[in-house]
Amino acid sequence: MEIFKQIAPLRAHLDRLRKSGVSIGLVPTMGALHQGHISLVEASKSQNAITVATIYINPTQFNNPNDHQKYPKTPEKDILMLQNAGCDVVFSPDDLEMYSEKPGVIFDFGNLDKVMEGKFRPGHFSGVALVVSKLFNIVQPDRAYFGQKDWQQFAVISLLVRELKFNFEVHSVPILREPDGLAMSSRNLRLNASQRSSATVLYQCLEMARKAIKSGTPLETVKKAVSEKVNQKPEMKLEYFELADSKKLTILNDVDNSVSPILCIAAYAGETRLIDNMFLD
Ligand code: PAJ
Repeated sequence: MEIFKQIAPLRAHLDRLRKSGVSIGLVPTMGALHQGHISLVEASKSQNAITVATIYINPTQFNNPNDHQKYPKTPEKDILMLQNAGCDVVFSPDDLEMYSEKPGVIFDFGNLDKVMEGKFRPGHFSGVALVVSKLFNIVQPDRAYFGQKDWQQFAVISLLVRELKFNFEVHSVPILREPDGLAMSSRNLRLNASQRSSATVLYQCLEMARKAIKSGTPLETVKKAVSEKVNQKPEMKLEYFELADSKKLTILNDVDNSVSPILCIAAYAGETRLIDNMFLD
């Protein structure tokens, strides 16, 4: 596995590989890797000759400086995990390499970045779009892989790729969960024992809500039940729970079977913000 910290030598290396005709898969991450990230590497390996993983904690996507500062870092373990997964190339630049000048471009994705994560984390998706655009241009992959865990991010990036005519495919990979249902997340490393045990309520609520909605319970009743179930757990505070059209991310007030609806939830466990989602079907 080759590790690059600078853009120019990485580009030269990938140019050589591309000229020999091999396909390149890209897996962008912010490190503190877990099996969810590795499942993206595996998806890339199954479809491409070369897999490039990037590890970069992108400052422009953090609207909360505390969250940025406290973002977990496990660099040695990350490299070992990527090596064991058979990743070919790692790119882990520093801030100066990625932002040699103060960022001046702002993205607006209309409704896609105004609801849910976009509403509670203003500017977040603009920062994500900026950094992934840079990574797309640096790596020029044939395919890029993102997790369904961040469904709204996947919807935003899919629009970015279509709109800017990036010439590659974007793939989404299913959510990997802990045995008790908690979606794997780098932020889980920040949970203490009591918060970790409370946090499974997110998955439990998604399961409960999906079943209730499918059996005809009105959405308003389900929303109230979810809010009570989350907030009664020690240290948990619900931020939002929505049913949305999974393509346009329009918030639904009722089940609409002409779209493919998705349930999305965000809550704090102590000071750590967690998100999860589940398709209705
Ligand atoms: P990060 O949170 O490190 O996630 C990297 C990728 O792993 C994302 O596509 C995310 O959806 C996916 N992922 C996270 N947890 C997962 C799980 N439990 N199962 C499956 N996939 C999972 O998302 C980001 O970083 C950043 O916003 C980034 C795209 C790298 C831009 O900075």
